[in-house]
Amino acid sequence: MSNSPHFITIYPMDELRLIAPCHFGLESVLKREILSLGFEIDNVQDGRVTFKGKEDAVPRANIFLRTAERILISVGEFDALSFEELYQETRALPWEDIIPKNAKFWVKKASSVKSKLFSPSDIQSIVKKAMVDRLSEKYGITVFPEDGDEYPLRVFINKNKVTLGLDSTGVSLHKRGYRKKQGAAPIAENLAAALILLTPWKGDRILIDPFCGSGTFLTEAAMIAANMAPGRNREFTAETWDHLIDKKLWYRAADEAESLINMDIDCDIQGYDIDGDVIRVARENAANAGVSELIHFQERPVSGLSHSGKYGFIITNPPYGERLNEKEELKRIYSELGEAFKRLDSWSLYVITSFDDAEKYIGKKAGKNRKIYNGMIQTRFYSFEGPKPPRRTLDRIRRQQA
Ligand SMILES: C[S@@+](CC[C@H](N)C(=O)[O-])C[C@H]1O[C@@H](n2cnc3c(N)ncnc32)[C@H](O)[C@@H]1O
Repeated sequence: MSNSPHFITIYPMDELRLIAPCHFGLESVLKREILSLGFEIDNVQDGRVTFKGKEDAVPRANIFLRTAERILISVGEFDALSFEELYQETRALPWEDIIPKNAKFWVKKASSVKSKLFSPSDIQSIVKKAMVDRLSEKYGITVFPEDGDEYPLRVFINKNKVTLGLDSTGVSLHKRGYRKKQGAAPIAENLAAALILLTPWKGDRILIDPFCGSGTFLTEAAMIAANMAPGRNREFTAETWDHLIDKKLWYRAADEAESLINMDIDCDIQGYDIDGDVIRVARENAANAGVSELIHFQERPVSGLSHSGKYGFIITNPPYGERLNEKEELKRIYSELGEAFKRLDSWSLYVITSFDDAEKYIGKKAGKNRKIYNGMIQTRFYSFEGPKPPRRTLDRIRRQQA
């Protein structure tokens, strides 16, 4: 057994270490969100940000973070070079303080990077066995009823350092609940929010998505503009863990989220798509999210894109064309986007795509591009940043909209 210390970070509940996985490449946006909620960052690694908070951080992080995938409570961290060490260190943790006798508990997922232990299924079964053995001994039972609340666990091993994280979220955070239907290749809600937050767009500037599909970018943007928390209308696994998180903290976070919403704003957020059916879906989704009054949707091809305003933003996810026969079509679509962008002088354009020739057909070199994984697809987020509006123009826009 190793001599490495294991941190039992779940107790005391006023010193929690929380782990928030996110899309690779977007850790900086999540970090900013966590800081603005008032929590202290512990560390940032590829695809996840760890931060510190008290008991109330669990409801608040789940309800308010737009770009995280889920919120895990770190139960233990230790080194393990063998399955025996993994078993002993896991068994040494006070699971009986966390997991009630009748709980359903399982190891939902294990991942390992640059470590001696690498088989996810073996890691999952050893950790589960250690938990079962500890709880059997403490509760004096061998058969667990498993008819109570759920306690899913996730295991990360990075350079032989094991982190055991209790999943407080359940269904992942990108599922806000408003997207009941979707188009052919919808972007994840938390990825859309992160990309918007990477740009300088604010609710008082024009925003258009000319390939809006089910309307994800625009619904997320309207929620940002109205200061509407993404998790306000959904449930979380940890809501039933009354012995760990006081129920009133969930109510308090939900009340805080409601009190912050401001629908009394004047936005110019518009979505177009060539497919009329998907436009109807986008309208339904925006209505489900409670922001339909902030977005104008219309069936329109990208070739017809225009706007009389200045200094607007296009943030979009055009077709990627994964199939070979779609390549010619893609060239035309990206050229049409480029032509429209040329007409919209003073505007900024942000495009996420896996189409390698995007810049070539848009007809402009991006100021920046960032590698991002959209699920399993490697994409780039191209930024064609336009000029900043002169101070006086921005003040006028804001006055008109106030
Ligand atoms: C990758 S999907 C966008 C998905 C969207 N971000 C979402 O979350 O649902 C691309 C969209 O472009 C639309 N499209 C394809 N060709 C178009 C064109 N010429 N003009 C406008 N929209 C087009 C498709 O109908 C499809 O909805």
